[in-house]
Amino acid sequence: MKKILVTGGAGFIGSHVVRLFVNKYPDYQIYNLDKLTYAGNLENLRDVDQKPNYNFIKGDIIDGDFIINLFKKEQFDGVIHLAAESHVDRSIANPMEFIMANIVGTVNLLNAAKHIWKDHFKDKLFYHVSTDEVYGSLGDTGFFYEDTPYDPHSPYSASKASSDHLVRAYHDTYGLPMLISNCSNNYGPNQFPEKLIPLFINNIRHNKPLPVYGKGENVRDWLYVEDHAVAIDIIFHKGPVGETFNIGGHNEWKNIDLIKVLCRVMDEKLGRAKGESEKLITYVTDRAGHDLRYAIDSSKLQKQLGWEPSLQFEEGIEKTVDWYIENQAWLDNVTSGNYQKYYEEMYLNR
Ligand code: NAD
Ligand code: TYD
Repeated sequence: MKKILVTGGAGFIGSHVVRLFVNKYPDYQIYNLDKLTYAGNLENLRDVDQKPNYNFIKGDIIDGDFIINLFKKEQFDGVIHLAAESHVDRSIANPMEFIMANIVGTVNLLNAAKHIWKDHFKDKLFYHVSTDEVYGSLGDTGFFYEDTPYDPHSPYSASKASSDHLVRAYHDTYGLPMLISNCSNNYGPNQFPEKLIPLFINNIRHNKPLPVYGKGENVRDWLYVEDHAVAIDIIFHKGPVGETFNIGGHNEWKNIDLIKVLCRVMDEKLGRAKGESEKLITYVTDRAGHDLRYAIDSSKLQKQLGWEPSLQFEEGIEKTVDWYIENQAWLDNVTSGNYQKYYEEMYLNR
């Protein structure tokens, strides 16, 4: 029997990873460790939380003593590390939270794994989930490859880059068995409505302005979240130790073009007149240090481990919009509380 620790399992991507593992591997015990920040929501896992192989632990990866005691007690076989502060705009407003969660938190997990696993590294694995944003920003052409030099620009991407370096350092220095994947922008159910797609779905629903940063010309490569979870499963089980894999959808969209697709789909789903939601588009002050373009080359993962994205973007966007419309209670729930304050601070004077 395998005991797998998933950190950040109550968040957006983590909840899809936990669901996949709990359902697909009934002989594994899955431990979801999450602090339940504003982004963590146990509602995301209601459909699996009664399964006998699912365990929830509320805890903070910044607390080193807590982490080492947890590793001592549970003797995990593997770690899939997703817990992080994940929103670029918040990192610009408050970098220290990102340094603590993303760097110190990762080092606490690495130290615990190194200490508890030290005499039996074989058959253990520390899988670190990271982002393509560590590679910086591309011009109009080219792609990020696994050996593209790191060049992060936001406090978020710099903290993730730092955590990636530390994971590699623990492998090179202590022999800790590890894997890293760097993925492009995810979208799909359960994403907190501070990120572009769920924020705009929620605003369209409420007829609120759609705040497009700058001229809307920045480009992102979008991947449906369940395809990311499948990639993580494949890499975790088949990836050669010490390797890095890029994960991406080969699905680049200029923000403004994506927003127009979203507006069209929302008009159809809400029975609004064609072009109605587009009227909400409002150009606002650009994000500081806004990376122009991300584009991932994931051919290593496709060639070596046989993964490829399963969904076309139009299909994925439709599924996503359907989910948010059918789960308005989820949206209303996560946008109550501190959300209003966050929104005003982020957008009032833009
Ligand atoms: P998210 O913000 O939705 O979820 C993060 C989760 O981590 C939340 O459940 C939160 O409660 C938990 N968490 C935060 N700080 C914690 C702490 N100190 N201790 C314990 N738990 C803590 O993030 P996400 O979008 O699901 O991203 C998950 C991971 O994937 C992150 O590491 C992120 O860098 C990476 N990633 C995200 C994307 C994307 O498009 N969202 C793309 C590539 C990589
Ligand atoms: P986001 O979802 O925050 O992801 P990331 O910054 O990690 O790529 O943003 C995606 C793109 O959308 C990015 O270029 C910034 C832009 N954006 C807006 O134009 N307006 C918004 O309100 C948000 C949140 C993002």
